[in-house]
Amino acid sequence: MADNIKVLISEQEVEQKVQELADQINKDYQGKEIHLICVLKGGVFITCELAKKLTVPVTMDFMSVSSYGDGQESSGRVKIVKDLDDSIAGKDVLIVEDIIDSGRTLGHLIDLLYTRKPNSIKLCTLLDKPDRRVTDVKVDYTGFVIPDEFVVGYGLDYAQKLRNLPYIGVVVE
Ligand code: IMP
Ligand code: MG
Repeated sequence: MADNIKVLISEQEVEQKVQELADQINKDYQGKEIHLICVLKGGVFITCELAKKLTVPVTMDFMSVSSYGDGQESSGRVKIVKDLDDSIAGKDVLIVEDIIDSGRTLGHLIDLLYTRKPNSIKLCTLLDKPDRRVTDVKVDYTGFVIPDEFVVGYGLDYAQKLRNLPYIGVVVE
């Protein structure tokens, strides 16, 4: 199966980029604590790798969401499949995602989380596909901007498979 995958971003490049993101985040959050929110399942790889490189105090929580009306303009809200365990009131929240595509999921998620009165919310994503954006989302930390191609690996799946690839690839049919 791995034969059908073209490497878009190598393991080394991802590793280096995660370090750069962590360096910037460590600077920006100097003297603060970060409450990392991992968006399951895709965000789990980048969240763990990033967390290991953070030197400011970190707490972590996990959330799983799915969009209603997948891919349709009328898509209303995000459905919470698994909610956070802890309150985010007063916390400096950093949401970590694998990819921002249309932006619908994160747009709705951020609106929802603001109602819980955090001190701040920032967004970090490993990948950004701005060409496909429908909902405007402010991304504070971006790993790589990629073209409109379907990618797998490092958390991103193709029919739930290939998340475990240590690099970002494109499936070649
Ligand atoms: P959106 O930004 O609301 O459109 O949704 C983003 C979600 O769609 C991501 O969290 C991924 O789960 C999924 N997704 C978007 N583009 C890709 C891709 O190229 N490969 C795998 N999953 C993707
Ligand atoms: Mg995701």
